[in-house]
Amino acid sequence: MEHEKIIVMDFGGQYNQLIARRVRECGVYCEVHPYTMTMEEIKAAAPKGIIFTGGPNSVYSQESPRYSEDIYEMGIPVLGICYGAQLMAYQLGGRVETAPVSEYGRTEVDIDDKGGLFRDVSDRTICWMSHTDYISETPEGFVVTAHTPVCPVAAMENRDKRLYALQLHPEVMHTAEGSKMLEAFVKDVCGCSGDWQMGSFVEDTIKAMKEKVGDGKVLCALSGGVDSSVAAVLLSKAVGKQLTCVFVDHGLLRKNEGDEVEAVFGPDGPYDLNFIRVNAQQRFYDRLEGVTEPERKRKIIGEEFIRVFEEEAKKIGSVDFLVQGTIYPDVIESGLGKSAVIKSHHNVGGLPDHVDFKEIVEPLRMLFKDEVRRAGLELGIPDYLVYRQPFPGPGLGIRIIGEVTEEKVKIVQDADAIYREEIAAAMEDGLIPRYGEEGTPGQYFAALTNMRSVGVMGDFRTYDYAVALRAVLTSDFMTAEAAPLPWEVLQKVTTRIVNEVKHVNRVVYDCTGKPPGTIEFE
Ligand code: XMP
Repeated sequence: MEHEKIIVMDFGGQYNQLIARRVRECGVYCEVHPYTMTMEEIKAAAPKGIIFTGGPNSVYSQESPRYSEDIYEMGIPVLGICYGAQLMAYQLGGRVETAPVSEYGRTEVDIDDKGGLFRDVSDRTICWMSHTDYISETPEGFVVTAHTPVCPVAAMENRDKRLYALQLHPEVMHTAEGSKMLEAFVKDVCGCSGDWQMGSFVEDTIKAMKEKVGDGKVLCALSGGVDSSVAAVLLSKAVGKQLTCVFVDHGLLRKNEGDEVEAVFGPDGPYDLNFIRVNAQQRFYDRLEGVTEPERKRKIIGEEFIRVFEEEAKKIGSVDFLVQGTIYPDVIESGLGKSAVIKSHHNVGGLPDHVDFKEIVEPLRMLFKDEVRRAGLELGIPDYLVYRQPFPGPGLGIRIIGEVTEEKVKIVQDADAIYREEIAAAMEDGLIPRYGEEGTPGQYFAALTNMRSVGVMGDFRTYDYAVALRAVLTSDFMTAEAAPLPWEVLQKVTTRIVNEVKHVNRVVYDCTGKPPGTIEFE
């Protein structure tokens, strides 16, 4: 299961996940790490190559993130992109300064030397540039391999030392031949053969899980989200009926979601496993009655969830393994230092203290979200489950501002279903970029504000709720900006919601980024 590996060293650029994804598209496994990763950790990971990302800083500023210059002497090929390119130039004795003319966006780049990364690239090629600093002098041993009218060093290479630098962004879609450049780096320079494939991951993992579990009993908390669904299917393929999935319907799911999950994983679905659906809706509504404070709501839902799950687990008795759908970004996040608690997150991560088991298995630990989706497709899980957006553990409970009631749940479910339906239609019509395309909204949903206002419908005064629509562009969900959805789409959604959903007479669009907002409302 050990694969060739490339490490992306994160200096705070916007496209880091994208770089990793492009590398994986070359069939090479790739991990993103913060630039604080130590040399020892790099040695232990034994990558075939390292990529420095872009970032917002200037290399000559005191506070700019750096990496030890020893990295250039390790004998591992390094590719610096944008800030990463400037850092390499600066640290190795070249010159970096503020460019007389900044370059943003689509730029024609002239290739001067095709002996390295540009082997298969046209003489003049369209690239995406985004910089205010530039490399004005290359370090000793480097040759300039590309330039633009205002950027003398759009790329440079020291092929003896296997050090490469690109001022342009090869990872974005707008760089027409960017994939060729990255492929040349990982294959020609780093010598990767391309041994990473989703099919082999699925097969390897099923085999490994079979060996690990033997004839033991396995328990899985199934949320219906993509991670837990893929983890559950992998295990069911490995050990069949030794697996029991418990799905708690807390009454805060999206419209029809409970039935959709049951249709796939229940007795009429295609998988061989034990499925238990617990309809605990009323218990959650009862406990949430009169509660308005967001953290309190989150705590109540989290606690109640554990209680319900625990009761079910007791009925099953002791199990050998608990399956968790932990994915790679979760591993990295939990490995970093402590930061302020903005919201207490609830997911199945809270379960281990409350369930009797011997070991946790995490079959998706090595994967990024898009790879989990590909594994899901490989396993034959339906598209609508595989492409499901992130959905918070407390569900609609935190998309209803203030007190949660059954009636409000129904309102937000209906509004959200219309919104999702119209976005899907707009994607189909090419009005909004689809999943996997640049500019696709990473998450979108309707929320119910606690605001009621006066309106007029059919000559009558109304005093009803406002629904807020949210759609964000984000790759890591840590920061986000509001998606510029086409006006015609927003208009259509608005009309449908006020016409079709009772007790709503106003629809607003949330234009706030994160920060200062968060993605969810509570
Ligand atoms: P925020 O609102 O903090 O959300 O900007 C960032 C991302 O996390 C999701 N989210 C959660 N996921 N349990 C989860 O598993 C939670 O309690 C939770 N709260 C927020 C949110 O949907 C977004 O994708």
